[in-house]
Amino acid sequence: MLAKRRHVLAGLAALPVGACAPGLRTDGPAVSIGNAKPGLDAMAQQGGRRFGSAVAWNTAGTGMSVSNPDYARILSAECGIIVAENEMKWQALRPSAETYDFTAADAIARWANANAMELRGHTLLWHRPQWFPDWLNAYDFGANRMREAERVLTSHIRTVASRYASQISSWDVVNEAIDHETRAPIKTSLSRAMGSAEAVIDLAFHTAREVLPDAQLVYNDYMSWEPAHSGHCDDVLRLLEGMKARGVPCDALGIQSHIEMFALDAATGVGPYDEAGWRRFLDEVTGMGYRLLITEFDVKDQALPGDQGTRDAKVAEFTRRYFELMFDYADHLDDVLAWGMVDAYNWLQYFDPAARTDGLEVRGTPYDSSYAAKPMRETLAATFSDN
Ligand code: XIL
Repeated sequence: MLAKRRHVLAGLAALPVGACAPGLRTDGPAVSIGNAKPGLDAMAQQGGRRFGSAVAWNTAGTGMSVSNPDYARILSAECGIIVAENEMKWQALRPSAETYDFTAADAIARWANANAMELRGHTLLWHRPQWFPDWLNAYDFGANRMREAERVLTSHIRTVASRYASQISSWDVVNEAIDHETRAPIKTSLSRAMGSAEAVIDLAFHTAREVLPDAQLVYNDYMSWEPAHSGHCDDVLRLLEGMKARGVPCDALGIQSHIEMFALDAATGVGPYDEAGWRRFLDEVTGMGYRLLITEFDVKDQALPGDQGTRDAKVAEFTRRYFELMFDYADHLDDVLAWGMVDAYNWLQYFDPAARTDGLEVRGTPYDSSYAAKPMRETLAATFSDN
C-alpha cells in the first residue's frame, strides 16, 4: 500500500490539463494543529495504513475549497490521502449522456499530486436515483434496454477509472446499493433496464477490474454500530455473500462511519452502540476475506448539549470507543478517512436540517471552525500511535 506513493507522483504527467490548482500558501493566520508532529497520516503509516480526508473544490452546496490556505495547511499537516467529496460522482462528471466535465475532479487530482498526497476514488456508481443525474433517471434505453444500459454504465466506468488509473489505487466502485427502510436493493433506471440491482453491481465491479487490475475495489455503505443499523448490516452481509458466491471482484468493504449520537446511553454517557453485534458483523465480513476501510468518518452530535467543552469531550469519547473497536480489526483495516477535517466545511452543517435543533454547529470533525484541533484529533492520534 505505502509503496504506491512513488507511483502516484509519477502519474501526474498522465493527467490531462484541467483547472489550475493553487499551491499551498505559507502566509495567513497561524493554524493550531495541536501537537501534530508527526501528523495523523505519519502515525497511521506506522501501522501500514493511510489517513486522510474528503475535500471539496468550490462545489455548490459545500462552498469550500482546498484553496482556503488554513484548510490546506491542516490537510498538509495531517493527511496523506484525499478523496473528492462530490466531484467524481456522476452528477458532477456527467452534465449529459454524451459529455463529461472533469474540471473540478482534475483540479483535486492535481492538487493531491502537487502536495504529495494520494487520492481515493469515490464513486464509480452511487446506486440511488437521488444521486443520478436527471438525464440518467429519465434515460430512454431504447429497444435493447439491457445492452444500452450496460453500455452507459461500462463506458462511464472505463472513462473515469482509466483517467485516474495512475493516481487512484482504491476505488469505491459501488456506493449504497441497499435501501435502509425497505431492506431491498435500490431500483434505478439502470437496474430496471438490466433486470436487477445485482446485475448492475456485478457489471460495475467487473468493468472496474478490467480497467484497474491492481486497484483495491470497494463496496461502500453506511452500515454502522448503532442498534438502528443492525438490519442494514444484515442486508449488506447478504450482498457481500452474494458477491463472493458470484465471483464478483470486490476486495473490501468501505464503512462510511458517520457515527451517530441521536440519544445518550445512561451507562456510558455517549450514544448507544451494539458492540457485540458490530463485532459479529466485522467478523463475518473479514471472515469472507474482505478488507475493511473507514471511508467517511465524522460524528453526529445531535443528542449532546450545546456546551462546547462537554460536547467535544463526548465526541472524542465516542470516537475513542469506535476506533478502539475498529482497531481490534487492525490486521484487516486499510485507509482511514475523515469526511472533512474542519467543522465549518463538514456536510453535517447543511445536509440534515435536524442535525442540531439549537442552531449550533455540529462539532463532528477533528478541527473546529477556527482551525483549532479538538479532543477528537488527539483521540485519533492516540489510536494511531497505539497501533
Ligand atoms: C455527501 C456530500 O458530503 C454532500 O456535499 C452531498 O450533498 C451529498 O453527499 N455518504 C457518501 C458521501 O457516500 O458521498 C456523501 O457525501 C455522504 C454520505
